[in-house]
Amino acid sequence: MKKLTVTICGGGNGAHACAALLALKGHKVNIYTPLQDEVERFLSNNPTLEMDLEVNNQKYENLKLNKVSFNAEEVIPEATIVFVIVPAFAHDNIVENIRKHLSKNTLLVVIPNRGGFEYQAKIKLAATNIVGLQTLPWACRTREFGKSVEVLGTKKSVQSASIPNEISDVYIKQLEELLDIELIMVKNMVTLTLSNVGQIIHPGIMYGLFKNNPYVTYSKDDIPLFYQGVTEDVGRILNNLSDEIVGLATELSRESLVDIDEVPSLHQWLLNSYSHTIQDFTSLDKMFSSNLSYQGLRVPSKEIEAGVYTPDFNYRYVSEDVPYGLLIIKSLAEMLNLETPQIDEVINSLGEWNGDNYMQKLGIIKEFSRHSRLPEFYSFNNIGSIFEI
Ligand code: NAI
Repeated sequence: MKKLTVTICGGGNGAHACAALLALKGHKVNIYTPLQDEVERFLSNNPTLEMDLEVNNQKYENLKLNKVSFNAEEVIPEATIVFVIVPAFAHDNIVENIRKHLSKNTLLVVIPNRGGFEYQAKIKLAATNIVGLQTLPWACRTREFGKSVEVLGTKKSVQSASIPNEISDVYIKQLEELLDIELIMVKNMVTLTLSNVGQIIHPGIMYGLFKNNPYVTYSKDDIPLFYQGVTEDVGRILNNLSDEIVGLATELSRESLVDIDEVPSLHQWLLNSYSHTIQDFTSLDKMFSSNLSYQGLRVPSKEIEAGVYTPDFNYRYVSEDVPYGLLIIKSLAEMLNLETPQIDEVINSLGEWNGDNYMQKLGIIKEFSRHSRLPEFYSFNNIGSIFEI
């Protein structure tokens, strides 16, 4: 493949992994983050810009990056492809900083897209070709900031969508080759907003496990298991959340706005993704608790005093998956006058527990909040306007 100049926006785990993997393939790789202290830390840890990578137990050393900068003008215009690889709450800051430096032919790739990127794109990135991926292709962790990263697992395929909806196949083929992944293109970006299962699994389990005692404390060794802790009752909550989202997608599919086959139920998604590692298929809760891929993962927790831990309801399982996930579903359902009692209960409780009070402040969030991505904030007030994007 022709050697490309790419710029990766972000300085977290995913950005480290993408930078090292693309440098390994010989591309010219820049990193951009608007956070100046992050750039300074990167350069002081690694002044020669040579990264180490471990992937599939293979180790690679001295993978050379081109530039690391907090000045968008220095690294955005020259890129053929610009990747945005940050949690959704950072999208707005990145987009604001890079948009005037994107050239006409640059492809912007958002990984992961999360809910509602389509509204931000319509208002702030008009005329830019954009591809969004449902999730990060890799499970990855930065080992040493700016220097070393480990890719623990790689997905074979990932749902993706573009703006405009029909984008040149040349872009998609190029991306597949770059990322070594199959992109399953869906009808539109709203489909990604609907089919994001993280917005069901993460808030659903955080709520279900702690609905009787959100302020429980435990020692480090007793931090509860997250997926393996899914009980029959938590499984019922997850099923209800999934049913409400599939119900919304079904309504939209009647007008051919989405293709219902592209919005699988949680049960179907588990079968598609994990049938090789699930030991017990008899119920949704058992499919979680017996899934070997989820073994040992624990509830995100914070230490409130020496040795005493409690669930962290500000972790991205809530702070990303509610305002950039379930809350958007809630808004779309309201536009169609659909009731979502289970989604309401989950959002309401998690918002009370983390102090964000999403449900009580929904009207204000729609008008003013840049810390979520509700369609109304971008003046998309009805379903028709959303599908004109
Ligand atoms: P991370 O937490 O490592 O990313 C943090 C980075 O985001 C920071 O280093 C900074 O560069 C950027 N950032 C944060 N706040 C910012 C702001 N206000 N302005 C500009 N930049 C800001 O996240 P990670 O692990 O790289 O994940 C990225 C996305 O991928 C998230 O949505 C995550 O949920 C998702 N994901 C991650 C997986 C993983 O294995 N790391 C697996 C599946 C999904």
